[in-house]
Amino acid sequence: MRNLTPTTITDAFAEYAKNAPSARTRELLVSLAGHLHSFVRENKLTQAEWGAAIDALTRAMKFTDDKRNEYILFSDLLGVSSLVDMVNAAKSGTPSSVLGPFHIEGAPELPNGGDLWKNQVGEPLVVSGKIADDRGAPAKGTVLALWQNSGNGMYAQQDASQSPTNYHARLKVADDGTFAFSTVRPVSYTVPDDGPAGDMLRALGRHAWRPAHLHMIIHAPGRTPLITEFFPDDDKYLDRDAVFGVRGGLVLPFKRETDRARLPANLAAGNSLPMPVWTATLDLKLPAA
Ligand code: BEZ
Ligand code: FE
Repeated sequence: MRNLTPTTITDAFAEYAKNAPSARTRELLVSLAGHLHSFVRENKLTQAEWGAAIDALTRAMKFTDDKRNEYILFSDLLGVSSLVDMVNAAKSGTPSSVLGPFHIEGAPELPNGGDLWKNQVGEPLVVSGKIADDRGAPAKGTVLALWQNSGNGMYAQQDASQSPTNYHARLKVADDGTFAFSTVRPVSYTVPDDGPAGDMLRALGRHAWRPAHLHMIIHAPGRTPLITEFFPDDDKYLDRDAVFGVRGGLVLPFKRETDRARLPANLAAGNSLPMPVWTATLDLKLPAA
């Protein structure tokens, strides 16, 4: 096509792609280019402004390695990771949320009732609950992958003083769907903001805080794993999560328990946790199959 204009360039892009081998890939790329073209036209983008965007993506490369991915952080802070999660979410069951960068494969097994806290820094928390399928039957055989930050605000991957799998675990629920474990109360923390994604936050006048949260992937037999996270209802960043991960149904009361006799009977650290402890109850539900 010759004599392109600001309005015909978008149709030209679609026409150039007419022999794309995959219809879905063509649809997505033509749509993406169309939205980018509209963005340029509507904002009358200058060379310097587009140059700054390219420069941020180039700098993102320098902040990306096998431990940190600045491109995913951009996706998270732009709300795209959360939006992709929400448009694909099941219509029923425990809501899903974003994965974040700190999940590890092959975390150690934690027996039901086990302890992750091990007297480390922070306030002990006892989590207990039950998981049921969409008809209310116990979701037998479910494995919960769990991970969270330490009481010092850092994930094991960010902190050489922690063992590499500290606060990472896989727990198999009992046949009646119940589970319990002791851990530390997670704390609010800032996502890494020393790179170009952090520059974007500052340009927007935004902060880098995430409310405290406990991550979980629910691996139920025969089901797609459900990625989610839970938040204490008293966290001051619940309404301004930097990565837009908070959903109704994932915010829970964290209560103070002073009576040791009321803790779950199978808690390995039940006799040694310093009272009072925080408690949280999770009522997990699988989506309809
Ligand atoms: C997190 O859950 O820890 C997280 C999520 C997105 C970006 C950075 C951190
Ligand atoms: Fe996290």
